[in-house]
Amino acid sequence: MTAVDILKAESLKVYYRTLHGSVKAIDGVTFEVRKGEVLGIAGESGCGKSTLVNFLVLPKDPMYHAGGKVFLKGKEITSLPKHDLRKIRYEEISIIPQYSMDSLSPTRRIRMIIRDLMREHGKDFDPDLVRERLSMVNLPQSVLNMYPVELSGGMRQRATMVISTLLNPDILIADEITSALDVSTQKFVIEMLLGFMDRKVVSSIVFITHDLSILYQIATRVMVLYAGKIVEIGPMEEVIEKPVHPYTKALIYSLPKMNVRFKERRLKGIPGQPPHLLNPPSGCRFHNRCPLATKRCEEEEPPLVEVGKDHYVYCWEVKV
Ligand SMILES: Nc1ncnc2c1ncn2[C@@H]1O[C@H](COP(=O)(O)OP(=O)(O)O)[C@@H](O)[C@H]1O
Ligand SMILES: [Mg+2]
Repeated sequence: MTAVDILKAESLKVYYRTLHGSVKAIDGVTFEVRKGEVLGIAGESGCGKSTLVNFLVLPKDPMYHAGGKVFLKGKEITSLPKHDLRKIRYEEISIIPQYSMDSLSPTRRIRMIIRDLMREHGKDFDPDLVRERLSMVNLPQSVLNMYPVELSGGMRQRATMVISTLLNPDILIADEITSALDVSTQKFVIEMLLGFMDRKVVSSIVFITHDLSILYQIATRVMVLYAGKIVEIGPMEEVIEKPVHPYTKALIYSLPKMNVRFKERRLKGIPGQPPHLLNPPSGCRFHNRCPLATKRCEEEEPPLVEVGKDHYVYCWEVKV
């Protein structure tokens, strides 16, 4: 772990207990979140994006820690009791959850929700701070007296943004917060998020979306997940312009708006479906959809290969 890493996950596994067995939603991921960066996480629906970040912020049943470690500012957090994790949440790591428009308690006015949060963290309601933060996301002060149902979806999302950043967390995670929005609102939300970084409210952002064209506008680096594992991680521009893993290539090529040159025309779209994570495929999890797969890919976990500066893939068939 270097000085610039705020968070580091090592061989992290997060599973779900179900009646049919364990769903291996995150199955051995190693990565870091660096100070000052926007780390993008991309991948098809069901690949484990929300599981990963929800676990980092606060694990909830039936999710459980199945292996590996997570260090937050040098401290190992997977072994901490719930009480300590609750303290870290909002103060060191915070999330704007997927479906955040519905995440606020319906029976409390916004002012009470903020007051409860501050109290839980041993602080008083700070009217000046709240005023400043509301204006950063273009919300009128009057929302403080309103119940969540009285706000539009967009206003609720911005209220959630204010609440999740109120205690200046080091890392802010945004999980699919632009997915339900039209293009101009997406731009506005992204600008507001970056505003929190510019004004040093947060040091780093983890931005999740299945839409690579949005990530391209905001991320410094991108990590591509497939079926609970990392397939490629590297600088955003380089990954978009020169993707190396066959899955990343297919993901980029399937984007109509991306307008990138892409030579391997035969990888049109991605045939087949992502695997079910109760019983993931052996070896490389992408092998049954991959045009380059060999016998070894079916049998053995792919190695980590450095394909450029700060750019890595897990693949048997990549030639460097
Ligand atoms: N509560 C749960 N119980 C069992 N399996 C779950 C639960 N929540 C999610 N999963 C499974 O975990 C996998 C990853 O889901 P998720 O993290 O939501 O993916 P993403 O955010 O990338 O769409 C999926 O296979 C999903 O079906
Ligand atoms: Mg999700």
